[in-house]
Amino acid sequence: MEYHKEKTIQNYQGWDEFYNLEVSDKLDFFCKERKLFDIIFAQQFDRPFLNYICHLANQIRILAKTRMGSDKLSRLLVHKRAMLYFVQPSTRTFISFLNACHILGMKTSEIRGTTTSSEVKGESPEDTIRTFASYVDLIIARHPEAGFAEKTAWVLNQTNRPVSVVNGGSGPDQHPTQALLDIYTLERSFERIGGLDGKKIAMVGDLKRGRTVRSLSYLMKNYENVTLYFVAPDIFKMRDDIKSFLDKHAIKFYETDDFESIMPVVDAIYMTRIQKEYSSAPTKETDAYPDFHFTASHLDNIQSHCIIMHPLPRRYEIEVAVDKDPRAVYWRQERNGMWMRTALIAYLFGVENEIANEFS
Ligand code: NCD
Repeated sequence: MEYHKEKTIQNYQGWDEFYNLEVSDKLDFFCKERKLFDIIFAQQFDRPFLNYICHLANQIRILAKTRMGSDKLSRLLVHKRAMLYFVQPSTRTFISFLNACHILGMKTSEIRGTTTSSEVKGESPEDTIRTFASYVDLIIARHPEAGFAEKTAWVLNQTNRPVSVVNGGSGPDQHPTQALLDIYTLERSFERIGGLDGKKIAMVGDLKRGRTVRSLSYLMKNYENVTLYFVAPDIFKMRDDIKSFLDKHAIKFYETDDFESIMPVVDAIYMTRIQKEYSSAPTKETDAYPDFHFTASHLDNIQSHCIIMHPLPRRYEIEVAVDKDPRAVYWRQERNGMWMRTALIAYLFGVENEIANEFS
């Protein structure tokens, strides 16, 4: 879990050149002192890190249950401040990050739309970001553009006050912290049956523009013998970049538009919403894909240990009646997000040993 190489800014000429590098060639740039410094891509996480961060999330979850434990947590980062720059709609990611900061005692400030910041006066996003860095120690950003969080980290890492940047969702590209909480949910759900290794996972819906399934797919390279089933209508099929990544890492995947046929086969079903905010033309009701919905009657078709996940918000993909079934884990998955994000922030600020000490 040591991230050895230091970033070598001088090797890169400018943003465009950097942005166009293969992700694997730029990971070092987001590390500092053998640790991850910025969280931008799911490809930054290796298996030891994933195991470790799940363990840390467990410890935080247990500590937070008691007054003494939560008091201890709330004193760890009283001297740190975070900025939540969320200029694309968000409920869960925003609130879970906000609560994660508060669990650790951090002070927070927020911008939830460009219309209330000086960007309306014509300030460039880069200058706006530098301004945040003058006041805070951590920036968590959600933005409709794919490369925004990455560019923020790139800009700040070249200033004399670099602060960590966490990608809270970058357009239709990536959502690395969602992938972490999804892994945490999968590992916890399969705790008694050998964890995530060897499992079969179906990802269903808008795989083309769903950043959650894209980031989660990248993480599969860290697990043994996982098989993915991409279930989508033709127009929302998983993009080639993910498929070549899976090929390169010898991860088995199948593509189908026949959802019912794979239901009995898989150990987890990850449902997603049609990401209609990325449709350029307001054509027909883009949510109308009933063949890619999970209804209460489907509960009879899945295995007794098969879990149903969803990053939420849901539209029509999962019938509300499904919520009552113990295999529906999406509300737990949502809560796991808060513990996982708390663990991530504790790790970024290096207070993980103080948490571990409570258990020794
Ligand atoms: C997802 C997102 O924003 O990408 N939601 C989330 O972060 N929990 C999924 C979605 O909006 O469909």
